[in-house]
Amino acid sequence: MKLDFDAPPHDPFDVFTAWFEEAAEKAGLPNPNAMTVATATPDGRPTARIVLLKQYDHRGFVFFTNRESRKGVELGENPRAALLMHWDTLDRQVRIEGSIEPTTDAESDAYFSSRPLESRLNAIASDQSRPIEDRASLEARRARVDATHADGSDPARPPHWGGYRLRPERFEFWQGHPFRLHDRVTYVADGDRWKTMRLMP
Ligand SMILES: Cc1cc2nc3c(=O)[nH]c(=O)nc-3n(C[C@H](O)[C@H](O)[C@H](O)COP(=O)(O)O)c2cc1C
Repeated sequence: MKLDFDAPPHDPFDVFTAWFEEAAEKAGLPNPNAMTVATATPDGRPTARIVLLKQYDHRGFVFFTNRESRKGVELGENPRAALLMHWDTLDRQVRIEGSIEPTTDAESDAYFSSRPLESRLNAIASDQSRPIEDRASLEARRARVDATHADGSDPARPPHWGGYRLRPERFEFWQGHPFRLHDRVTYVADGDRWKTMRLMP
């Protein structure tokens, strides 16, 4: 979709969907749903890492993780985040900012049970973001998890593993142009509507 930056659509989700589908279908990227998630400590120290966007709709953008990880602890204390997607071969960037809430247990269960068995067992074995002595200790943790599921029982989702949904308050769509005269448009939530504004590159 060629976005008309002078007369952008009213709904930023329409733009996101069009760009995301193009990134998935045409950009030749192995992980078009990879995005940087920036969080911050309550005293304003930012941290960032990549996660995969797994679901989105008008309620927000969902990723899954360990809620006791560094990001999880920061989101518990300061439930705001920024998302960033960069689709290099399309010369596009999307920024999304907003508040964070955990997904429901039913949503987390549904996604957890859709994952391959290996991923579920590894999620159970890993206390994400905590220090560990060496690779052998990590593999020993995984072996202990395997032993407790040797009867073939379906591994249950650990209570600290689940999703977060970012409810967007601001979007920015960025289209690169040669020699830096890029196009940018922001959408800022204004009640039920979105106010758009073109920004200089
Ligand atoms: C392409 C890619 C996808 C990733 N997807 C996820 C993900 O969906 N969830 C997740 O918890 N970590 C994911 N990671 C690992 C995170 O970047 C990070 O190492 C981990 O979540 C711990 O971050 P934290 O210590 O800041 O909490 C991914 C990493 C890469 C490079």
